[in-house]
Amino acid sequence: MVGIDGDRSTTVRGMTTREHPGGHVYARRMTSRALGMARIISGGGKTAYLWPGMRSYLTAHTQRPDGLLTDLEAETAALGGAAGMQVPAEEGALLTLLTSAVGARQAIEVGTFTGYSALCIARALPPGGRLVCLDVSEKWTSIARRYWERAGVDDRVELRLGPAADTLAELPERPEFDIAFIDADKTSYPAYYELLLPRLRPGGLLVVDNVLLDGSVLGRGSRHPNAVAMRAFNAALAADPRVRVVMLPLADGITIAQKLLTAVGTDPVGEPAGEPAAAAVGVTA
Ligand SMILES: C[S@@+](CC[C@H](N)C(=O)[O-])C[C@H]1O[C@@H](n2cnc3c(N)ncnc32)[C@H](O)[C@@H]1O
Repeated sequence: MVGIDGDRSTTVRGMTTREHPGGHVYARRMTSRALGMARIISGGGKTAYLWPGMRSYLTAHTQRPDGLLTDLEAETAALGGAAGMQVPAEEGALLTLLTSAVGARQAIEVGTFTGYSALCIARALPPGGRLVCLDVSEKWTSIARRYWERAGVDDRVELRLGPAADTLAELPERPEFDIAFIDADKTSYPAYYELLLPRLRPGGLLVVDNVLLDGSVLGRGSRHPNAVAMRAFNAALAADPRVRVVMLPLADGITIAQKLLTAVGTDPVGEPAGEPAAAAVGVTA
C-alpha cells in the first residue's frame, strides 16, 4: 500500500508497518475499516513485514524449494488451518544455508510438525550427521517421516516424541550441537533457550522462529500470553552477554543467536577483547 507521502505499508492484525522510501520504519494501530482495506491490498503472506510485492521479489531471488519440498508443502497445505505452522520456503532456505555455513554435524529442532524445517536442516548435514527433532504429535510427524525417507536423510534424523522441555532436560548437558532451531509453543521459548544453550557448542547458532508474532510484539498492544512472553524473551535475548544476536524481519521474524566463548581471544569468529563475551558469566562451555 503506497501512502500520500510515498511510503509503503503492510498490515497484520491491526498493526500497520510503514516503510518510508528513505528507509524509516514505523508502526501504528489502524482503524478496523482501514485494516480491512489494507488486508485486501496486502494479501497476507508469511513474510509479512514487507510491502506488497516485495515477498515475491525476495523469494524469486532466494534458493527455490525443489520438488520434494514443494510436495511436502502441498501435502501440509491440505491439512487446512494447521498448515500455517509450517515455515515458509525462504526460511527453509535460510536454515539450509546456516546449517551448511556452520559446518553442522549435530543439529536439534524444537517443533517439527510435518517436517519442512527439519528436511531443510537435515539435507545440509553430512553423512553421519544427526538432527534431533522434538515434537508431541505422532500424527503430524508421521508425514515428516515419509519425506525424510524420500529425501534419503531418515538415517540422520532422530525423532523424539513428548513435551520438548522434558526431552531436552534428558539430553546430556554437553556442548554438542552446532545449530538449534526453536519453533514450538511460544510461552516455553525461555525454557527451551536455557535448556539448549549449554548443549550448543561455542560459535554454534540458535535460530528462533516467530519472534515478531504477527507484529503483536510491538508496543503493549496485545496482552495475549504469547505476545507477552515473546516480548520478554526478545528483550532478555538482546541483553544476554552469552550470545550475539541479530533479529531478521524474514517470515514471522527470525532471531539468530550465536553462542559466545568466555575466553578472550579464542572466539571462532574473532571476538575482540573487551566485548561482552569476555565478561560473560555462567557460560558452561
Ligand atoms: C509451528 S509448528 C513447527 C513447524 C515446523 N518447524 C515446520 O517447519 O513445519 C510447532 C510444533 O510444535 C509442536 N509442539 C507444541 N508444543 C510442544 C511441546 N510442548 N513440546 C514439543 N512439541 C510441541 C506442535 O506439535 C507443532 O508440530
